[in-house]
Amino acid sequence: MADKRNPLIGLLLGAEEDWPRAFEQILGLVGPLKVDGRSLDITSERLRISPFDLTDPVKPGLVIDRLAYWYYHPREWLKKAALMNDTYLLNSPFTFQSMEKHSAYCAMLRLGMKIPKTVLVPYKNPVDNVRWAYTSAKYNDRFDLDAIAEEVGYPMYMKPFDGGGWRGVSRVDHQAGLHKSYDESGEMLMHLQATVDYDKFARALSIGPETMVMDFRPEQPMHNRYAVSYDFLSEQAGWEAETVSKVVNAFFGWEFNSAEMLVAGNEVHPIDYANACPDVAVTSLHYYFPWAITALVRWSVFALATNRRATVDLETRRYYEIADDDSLDYQAKMEGYRALADAHFDTDRYWEFCHEHLAHLPEAVLEWVDSDAFDKILLDTVRSTYPAHEHEKFLAHFRGLVGLWVKDQRSLAGGPSDTPEREDRTNAAQL
Ligand SMILES: Nc1ncnc2c1ncn2[C@@H]1O[C@H](COP(=O)(O)OP(=O)(O)O)[C@@H](O)[C@H]1O
Ligand SMILES: [Mg+2]
Repeated sequence: MADKRNPLIGLLLGAEEDWPRAFEQILGLVGPLKVDGRSLDITSERLRISPFDLTDPVKPGLVIDRLAYWYYHPREWLKKAALMNDTYLLNSPFTFQSMEKHSAYCAMLRLGMKIPKTVLVPYKNPVDNVRWAYTSAKYNDRFDLDAIAEEVGYPMYMKPFDGGGWRGVSRVDHQAGLHKSYDESGEMLMHLQATVDYDKFARALSIGPETMVMDFRPEQPMHNRYAVSYDFLSEQAGWEAETVSKVVNAFFGWEFNSAEMLVAGNEVHPIDYANACPDVAVTSLHYYFPWAITALVRWSVFALATNRRATVDLETRRYYEIADDDSLDYQAKMEGYRALADAHFDTDRYWEFCHEHLAHLPEAVLEWVDSDAFDKILLDTVRSTYPAHEHEKFLAHFRGLVGLWVKDQRSLAGGPSDTPEREDRTNAAQL
């Protein structure tokens, strides 16, 4: 293993252009660093896909991956890089490939989190395997779908055990709908899940130890799903939503992930929190975009500069010891998990590092977001995302939201201190 990682960040990208350009430009604002006596000039490179010998050297010390979820050649290259070259990965395909939504439900249930009642039912249609008919006749129990549904209760959600992007998700309101949805599920393996009657939909984006809990409105079109609201959850629910997102990531070894939670009063119910390629497009995150890409830069720089170790050993037992301790109530357990998550992400050291080496970055990012360079990314993204007749409307929409962020940052950074709403804005996407 190399003693120090090469200060090069590799980007494995798909169709996206907006955040990679922002990432490259913000990384350019970091400048040369001196960490533990070592001079570092961290750069990035968009990686290409080609045949590789398993013993080939790997250049980047860290890779941010957006492909492994569906494109197996780069995924296998990532594993080779981690195993042979100790390359640091956001995210590790080792756990994302083996743990899908279903495993994430199971593990967080074990930790006592408030996952709605969920039942896994066998495939509707035979799987494509010559042994199926024999195995099924011999071992598959007959089951009563209606009786299971009665127990889960209507309305419920039927969704694939490994879902994402609303694929195959349906809301089931009655018995006829149940059978229709199940018939249509075909060869997808489905959960039936009790509906949570929620007041607020919280979506948390976590990057390393940084988490932003956002007010998500799934019924809105994409560009309007994240509301800019500062106090949409109670203090308790806000803390819990943040904790769920961090603990999920620390537990599974994920570093760049989003968690969806349905919040009813003070109760936080996680429903979808294994998203290997979380949405970070400027056209959906807008106001929160500068924070997200800055966090991605900061965490990558920290991991590279401090030679952070990656491991595939998850040591889940540490969490279960807390989960199984009957003397602890829910809050005490959540605090215990949160402490493990903070230790996992080296949170205190991370913020010390940012303070010592990256203190100039927030101001530099703020000026950059307010410059023509950022406006160019916005312009190009809007032009490539929406039809021509909508360009003007969306440009005004996103310029307005990003402009609001710039204004908020200026006032948080010590602008006119008599701004009355300042204290209410503790949840503003602060750098
Ligand atoms: N248990 C539930 N209670 C209420 N709404 C739900 C529930 N499960 C899913 N939904 C709704 O369905 C959407 C898609 O389900 P989700 O589990 O997030 O699937 P995906 O992984 O495809 O995003 C959610 O964003 C939410 O609006
Ligand atoms: Mg979802």
